[in-house]
Amino acid sequence: MSKPFVILKAAMSVDGKIASIGGDSKLSCEEDLRRLHYLRSQVDAVMVGVGTILKDDPSLTVRLVRGRNPIRVVVDSQASTPPTAKVLDQKALTIIAVSRKAPKKRLERLKERGAKIIVAGKKQVNLKVLLNRLCQMGIKKLLVEGGSTLNWSLIKEHLVDELQVSVCPFILGGEKAKTLVGGKGFRRIAESLKLKLVRVGRVGEDIILVYRPLATKQ
Ligand SMILES: NC(=O)c1ccc[n+]([C@@H]2O[C@H](COP(=O)([O-])OP(=O)(O)OC[C@H]3O[C@@H](n4cnc5c(N)ncnc54)[C@H](OP(=O)(O)O)[C@@H]3O)[C@@H](O)[C@H]2O)c1
Repeated sequence: MSKPFVILKAAMSVDGKIASIGGDSKLSCEEDLRRLHYLRSQVDAVMVGVGTILKDDPSLTVRLVRGRNPIRVVVDSQASTPPTAKVLDQKALTIIAVSRKAPKKRLERLKERGAKIIVAGKKQVNLKVLLNRLCQMGIKKLLVEGGSTLNWSLIKEHLVDELQVSVCPFILGGEKAKTLVGGKGFRRIAESLKLKLVRVGRVGEDIILVYRPLATKQ
């Protein structure tokens, strides 16, 4: 299977949360945000789960630095992305990846807003199939910007090639607050995804940790 080079990028608190229990997720400092926008300008596409669209309504464009907007991809089995979502503005192509269960009416509304629909998977989006399709479209570098549930699925399936984590100087607490990686979790350390630290840096108040998996299944 061919797939793009997948970079997973997230900002988390010192205690590993990517949003507070109230849903605040703007953890990065200004300099780190500019770095994120620069990264967006350097990739072919940016991908998020529909949970992030519904919570944060991000536009996923490049605004804080000069550069071109990447293609935007939303992983959204039921086509639940609201037609009014910022990600459907006309600033770049937006792909909504859905399953075969997505209601036709919703698909029509999204198409009317200019979205390209990719059907991958029966009930839930099949990420391997989706990544393969994106690769065939010429997307060689993909930046994943969360959230917690999508991060888990990609990590569990060994589809992440690089992790860029910003550790921001906050403690958010809360058992229900979303962590960097959610989902079911690995039962044992022996089954977990093992990483190699390749870079450590500091941007403003945030610590940047860059990891690569020790082995990535293709
Ligand atoms: N600090 C940060 O860097 C950062 C970045 C991004 C997001 N966040 C935060 O993360 C939170 C959202 O995370 P989340 O976990 O609720 O949502 P999410 O990961 O953004 O989206 C998850 C949804 O994607 C859909 N999906 C479809 N196919 C999937 C698959 N194969 N694997 C996984 N998901 C699939 C599912 O909905 P369907 O079944 O309906 O398709 C699933 O519920 C928000 O609070 C947001 O603020 C923080």
